[in-house]
Parts: sequence; structure tokens; C-alpha cells
Amino acid sequence: MIEFYLDTVDLEQISRFNHCLPLKGITTNPTILAKAGIGINRLLPEITSLLGGHTRVHIQVVSDSVEGMVLEAQKLHALSYDIVVKVPATEIGLAAIRQIKRDAIPVLATAIYSAEQGFLAAACGADYLAPYVNRMDVLGIDGVAVVSDLQDLVECNQFDSVLLPASFKNSQQVLRVLKLGVGAITLPVNVVEGLVSPGIVHPAVEQFNQDWQTVFGSQKSYES
Ligand code: G3P
Repeated sequence: MIEFYLDTVDLEQISRFNHCLPLKGITTNPTILAKAGIGINRLLPEITSLLGGHTRVHIQVVSDSVEGMVLEAQKLHALSYDIVVKVPATEIGLAAIRQIKRDAIPVLATAIYSAEQGFLAAACGADYLAPYVNRMDVLGIDGVAVVSDLQDLVECNQFDSVLLPASFKNSQQVLRVLKLGVGAITLPVNVVEGLVSPGIVHPAVEQFNQDWQTVFGSQKSYES
């Protein structure tokens, strides 16, 4: 079963979509947290009370050295929540991932812009790989093709890493990625909204209800 995440810390939206989607948890990044003005010591209890104790939260390190990233990972892992530590798949980040995995701490390699970069992160032991689909697309790189190549590389090398593609701007990108059979995905609120409530569906449903009420009034199906 694919793991669904929301790429947001907007509690109202998380609560809204938790009713209609089997959410595994949320993903965050420093920009998302900074824009919302919320630190993880406030976020984690609020998310847990909203989604339950099984909720997985992906939190990115903000250090720029191997030692700093490893220490952050250890401190985050020591918290009593299901936290996956996000580490940028840079040269320093890859070194940090190797060290962090010696402590068996769950890691997501983030900011992946090529299949080979994702391959290296998988080889270093990352549990999740986050290719940035839309950010690649705007750079003229076919983001979905990179996800596909990375999925092939993970499978043919028998890595345990799960692809968790991120950075989506439209439902076509999402559909094409889902067709690849990725193990996880994270979506921003506006894209989930388009998937759950596409505008073209409402007129059809309204027409059904109008036709029904014309003949049966306020009767429900089982009363007719
Ligand atoms: O969490 C990282 C990723 O989701 C970035 O997305 O929309 O800023 O390209 P975006």
C-alpha cells in the first residue's frame, strides 16, 4: 500500500484531508516550517493529537556539516514520535546519511534532481528517496522520467529504499508518477484539492440530485 503524505503543516487542511485520504503523515521542509512560523516542538504534539500516534513526520536537518546533520538526526530520533530525518542528498548529506544509518535512524534523502543522485543516496542507505518532480520540470528536466529511472535503479540493484516523489504542481504529474508504482508520495494542498474535488465532477453529482428531487422530493434512496 502506497504511503500518502501531505507536504504541509497547515493543521486545518491536514484535518480536512485526513477524513478522505489514508494519510500516513506529513512531510515538512525548512521553508514550509519557516513560512508557517511553527517549530517542531509545537508541531509534533499538534499533529499527533490530530492524526494519532501512528503518524509519521518527515523533518529536515538544517545543519551544513556532517557532524551537525548527524547530531540533529540523533536528537530528532530521540524524540518520542515517528520521525524520518530528511537529509539533502549533497556530498555532505550523503556522508551524513552513511553515519546516521549506522544508528539505524530512518532517513529520507531529499532534494534529488537526477536518478544518479538518488542512486547514490540509496547506496548510502537512505530509506526514502525524494525526487523533486516539478522543480525538475521547470528546469527542463523530465521529472517523471527521472523518477522512472530511479525506480528502475532501486529495483534492479535490490535496494530497500522507497521512492517518495515530492514537488508537484498538477495532477498529470501525480498520475504519471503513480503509474510507476512508487511506494510513497507527498502532495501539496492545492494539488490534493484538485485530485479529491475536480471541478467537473460537481455538476454531474448536482444533476443526479436535482433529477432525484424532482420525482422523489426529500425521500432518501431507501425510502423510495
Ligand atoms: O518538501 C520538498 C518539496 O516538496 C518541495 O516542493 O513545491 O517547493 O517544489 P516545492
